[in-house]
Amino acid sequence: MSSFKARDIISLRDMTTQDLWTVVTTAGEVKAGMHRGCLLDKTIASLFFEPSTRTRLSFESAVVKSGGSVFGFADPGSSSQKKGESFADSIRTVTGYCDAMVIRHPVEGAARLASEVASVPVINAGDGANQHPTQTFLDLFTIYEEFGRLENLKIGIMGDLKYGRTVHSLTHAMSLFDAEMVFISPPSLKMPSNILSDLREKGVSFRTADTPEDASDMNLDVLYVTRIQKERFGDPLEYKNVAHGYRITRDTISALGEQVRIMHPLPRVDEIAEEVDSTPNAIYFTQAHNGVPTRQALLGLVTGGIN
Ligand code: CP
Repeated sequence: MSSFKARDIISLRDMTTQDLWTVVTTAGEVKAGMHRGCLLDKTIASLFFEPSTRTRLSFESAVVKSGGSVFGFADPGSSSQKKGESFADSIRTVTGYCDAMVIRHPVEGAARLASEVASVPVINAGDGANQHPTQTFLDLFTIYEEFGRLENLKIGIMGDLKYGRTVHSLTHAMSLFDAEMVFISPPSLKMPSNILSDLREKGVSFRTADTPEDASDMNLDVLYVTRIQKERFGDPLEYKNVAHGYRITRDTISALGEQVRIMHPLPRVDEIAEEVDSTPNAIYFTQAHNGVPTRQALLGLVTGGIN
């Protein structure tokens, strides 16, 4: 039996290297046409307490494409939270309506709390600035499709490393595959010190830089760009001081070398110029589209439709 059946997917930190391979290889199988109907007779709840385009819609597309049913809300203002119902009571209720639930919430730890009160698998679709494990699954799948391997890659991770949950999950994942990493950010948005300490303890090779050009000697395989997470700043002035501070252009690609692939979890604001979209280096829309087979694979695994 798969180690995923009935499992909560809350944090990359709960995942082994083998777990990551299971998701990546199963996503490849789904994309190749295997596991059709893996969610037949399954009902998935999609509870989004925070805005989303890609994560919510690709989860919902994944369910429909795999023969399941999906219900939920994209706006908590339409739920009984508006009448004062607690988050835990909402989850205790919805657990009786579905076979698995997908939750995005602005509060760190919300998905973990949900998993403690739900009797069905809970999938974290992003909790505050903490984790976004399913984004990392599709990132890894995209990297594997592009390079044919996950091990020993050189990756630049750039942008809002303080509040960006996707980069927290991705950093942990890449550390399991002996990546060489460079963290590129404004000084006030550096990778949290607990994540850097963790990397040091594990002996992972990394450095920091102010600009992508500072890492041009590395021949990066991937530059993973993120937007500044405006919604996480307590002080609007702090946001204003760092907004619009960097922009990836064709010149950046020339500086990093034609081998570099540009990734981004999206949405983008202005940190990648549209002129980059038409280059062979830009793989961020393929990455977004890979959300569907990756989430089909994951839902199939946790509901037992894929063994
Ligand atoms: N990458 C990502 O999480 O996008 P959404 O916020 O649109 O879901």
